[in-house]
Amino acid sequence: MDIYEQIYQRLYASGEPAWTGSGYPRAWHNLHENLTTLKDAALLPAPGSRILELGCGNGSMASLWFAREGYQVSGVDISPTAIRWAQENFFRQGLCGDFQTADVCHLNQLPEHPFALIFDGSCMHCLTGKQREQAWHEIKRLLAVDGHFVLSSMCGEPRKEEDRRHYNPAEYVLYRDGQPWRTLLPLPLLRQEILEQGFIIQHQQVTNNPWWDHVTLCVVAR
Ligand SMILES: C[S@@+](CC[C@H](N)C(=O)[O-])C[C@H]1O[C@@H](n2cnc3c(N)ncnc32)[C@H](O)[C@@H]1O
Repeated sequence: MDIYEQIYQRLYASGEPAWTGSGYPRAWHNLHENLTTLKDAALLPAPGSRILELGCGNGSMASLWFAREGYQVSGVDISPTAIRWAQENFFRQGLCGDFQTADVCHLNQLPEHPFALIFDGSCMHCLTGKQREQAWHEIKRLLAVDGHFVLSSMCGEPRKEEDRRHYNPAEYVLYRDGQPWRTLLPLPLLRQEILEQGFIIQHQQVTNNPWWDHVTLCVVAR
């Protein structure tokens, strides 16, 4: 069984609120602040526009925020349990959302360019090796002309000793149980990757944490 599916089965069974478990209120607070900043800077499309969250999990983070703001929300996640949970959460709250189990590297079932905004639900840093290139290809295929992409990603070096032991700084990969687990790029390299994909960076916000930094980058095609 896929590792993310295992994690979501456990989270759901133990009654956790979302991926972040007991850290959910803090994660929600940070997300709310970041998205409000983007909204106030007029970097979000108008409510009613179509948005897609990559790695939407149980829908309780960005998808929920956008749905409450009046956007047409779609979300994809590799875990079927997360997707069922997102559907359940939205149904219970009387919200509309189109949630599908899918790999963000292969979104052929979605038509070209429907989304005014694609939001990375901290999914891009879960992709290692050639998966990242595949996901960038899909983002560009799915984003409307003049659409915005918001990357929400770990960045910098791990600060905790335990994490540093499992980090390969030559490939910028954090390992878990001997397997590539996270791409953890220094911020300048993350910015370079975005530019190489043909985007312009319009906004950057970094949150410093005791473990590693987290960046929100709002970008638009050149
Ligand atoms: C850090 S979690 C964040 C989940 C959710 N956005 C949130 O904020 O609660 C990353 C999510 O990406 C999903 N994911 C990882 N790799 C994926 C892939 N290749 N395709 C789709 N989803 C993926 C995981 O299942 C997980 O839900």
